[in-house]
Amino acid sequence: MLILSRGDVHAVLDGAHESVLRTVRAAYLAHTHGETSVPQSVFLRFPGNSRDRIIALPAYVGGERPVAAVKWVASFPENISHGKERASAAILLNSVTDGRPVALVEGSVISARRTAASAAVAASAITDGAPADVRTGVSLIGCGVINYEVLAFLRAAFPSLAEVTLFDLDPRRARAFAARVAGQWPELSVEVRDRAEEAMAAHRLVSLATTASEPHLGTDACRPGTVVLHLSLRDLTVESILAASNVVDDADHVCRARTSLDLAQQISGNRKFITAELGALLACRILSPYAPDSVVIFSPFGLGALDAALAAHVLDTATERGLGLSLPDFAGQVPVEANRVS
Ligand SMILES: NC(=O)c1ccc[n+]([C@@H]2O[C@H](COP(=O)([O-])OP(=O)(O)OC[C@H]3O[C@@H](n4cnc5c(N)ncnc54)[C@H](O)[C@@H]3O)[C@@H](O)[C@H]2O)c1
Repeated sequence: MLILSRGDVHAVLDGAHESVLRTVRAAYLAHTHGETSVPQSVFLRFPGNSRDRIIALPAYVGGERPVAAVKWVASFPENISHGKERASAAILLNSVTDGRPVALVEGSVISARRTAASAAVAASAITDGAPADVRTGVSLIGCGVINYEVLAFLRAAFPSLAEVTLFDLDPRRARAFAARVAGQWPELSVEVRDRAEEAMAAHRLVSLATTASEPHLGTDACRPGTVVLHLSLRDLTVESILAASNVVDDADHVCRARTSLDLAQQISGNRKFITAELGALLACRILSPYAPDSVVIFSPFGLGALDAALAAHVLDTATERGLGLSLPDFAGQVPVEANRVS
């Protein structure tokens, strides 16, 4: 068993945006080609507490480097008022040959980066052929860990990105985020807006990563031809979902757990509002639904296949570099003979 800490994961992934984008793109293609197994996630909740949760996401990804893994990811939104990150996670990888556990990897960095990379991969695929200005500015609604990573991956995918507009319910979080962006990427122009609608109207690329649990925002303020990356899944009203073209990662996964798409499905009685799955776009099986006069929304449930694929990449690179703590006797060895009844 190899144990990889957060520091080990950073050592592998920091500055490696291109390889993360490649790994995530390949996982979506494997999913659309039927080379994955991704059971529904299991939500652990606590009696009398609708806010906190821990989710298990098991997944298998086949292909040249098969991997089986489970991500166990906790979301405790109140953490941020105590100076701690909302999310924490661990990923357990198993051998696909004998099933035995082979590695335990800190999961929060992998989880955040695969989410941000999925947003950038989707934005690239959806805006392929769109006017160039769609890729020059982004509005970030919710100034937390995920949207910071989204900005980093959008910069990697769209070198022309120059302007960032921010909104957060907590203005201090927006100001702190702006200061961090100015320090890390001084070439970007950053502004903070007082209302979500003002921020939504500022650019034709919008990323929603809040902790809202009920829909609170429409897309009326968006300019025609806007692409909304709806990563937090529960911000947008049913009306705005039904009025838009919708790209998802997997329709069966995203239409559950009271996401905006689940509510849209319950109200409309069907899933006809879903235009495409991202894997089919990437495989060029269908064309992007982008149109200069309408809004496209990308809502990814967040497939465990992305975590598994990126964790395998981290494990392989860390092993090559000799990183991590090895526990050869973690599971011990019980001779099969010892269990035989004589
Ligand atoms: N789809 C996926 O694959 C995926 C993966 C990981 C995280 N997420 C989701 O992304 C979201 C953000 O995660 P994070 O780690 O950045 O959280 P975070 O707690 O670090 O940041 C969330 C920010 O949103 C702000 N906020 C809350 N409600 C708001 C509202 N109504 N309007 C504007 N701002 C608001 C908070 O003040 C906070 O600054 C979470 O909902 C999480 O579940 C999705």
